[in-house]
Amino acid sequence: MAIAEFYGRWADCYDRIATAPGVGRWRRAAAAAVASPGDTIVEMGCGTGANLPYLRERVGPEGHVIGLDITPELLDRARRRAVEYDNVEVLRADATRPPFGGGDGTNIDAIVGSFVCGMFEDPAAVVGDWCDVVGTGGRIALLEATATDELLGRPLNPLFRAFTAVGAPGTDAWDVLRAPFRGVDTVLSERVSAAQSVLADRTVERRHETFALGFVDLLSGRVR
Ligand SMILES: C[S@@+](CC[C@H](N)C(=O)[O-])C[C@H]1O[C@@H](n2cnc3c(N)ncnc32)[C@H](O)[C@@H]1O
Repeated sequence: MAIAEFYGRWADCYDRIATAPGVGRWRRAAAAAVASPGDTIVEMGCGTGANLPYLRERVGPEGHVIGLDITPELLDRARRRAVEYDNVEVLRADATRPPFGGGDGTNIDAIVGSFVCGMFEDPAAVVGDWCDVVGTGGRIALLEATATDELLGRPLNPLFRAFTAVGAPGTDAWDVLRAPFRGVDTVLSERVSAAQSVLADRTVERRHETFALGFVDLLSGRVR
């Protein structure tokens, strides 16, 4: 699978970006938006597990954190990060077909997706399924990065586009060079916006926060 191959090759580099100074603030906010003490919370596409300590911090020793991903090399790092907690587990599974619900006995209180909706061909359907998994009263948070509309950030959009091209499976050097001048992030924006629309339709008590001059969006809500 192209996505898993790509992230597998760049696992160390991705981990450094995922844990860069300042990023923890967004991750802590995402955890705070949906997780409470004692909850069972799932992170879909957990990568190297950069969110797991923040989710564990919120659910506490009585809660349960499950991170799932399709890339074995990233999961190895996530597993190492989770080893100090006995209530954080990491498993290889597809976020578009989560192995919960349908009578498997796991009661999920909340789901977090961070920087992952742009990877799905049909993010609206995926987020709809996540809403079904948590059911009425369950909480969902989506943390995503897209080009910004904020005045101060707009001059940096070309740089964001180049960064997006570097970090996208299947792009080559030519794509990266052209990225600042072309809408290489159009698919990403469309996918993120489709995911956010479904979350907006399906939830109440929504909260929206932005970080990093509007490049990073956190949308959360409680399923109606
Ligand atoms: C940009 S990384 C984000 C990782 C992590 N959520 C974070 O915030 O650092 C995207 C992740 O989504 C994972 N991914 C992509 N498609 C997936 C799928 N269908 N099921 C599970 N994980 C998936 C990739 O393997 C990768 O770890």
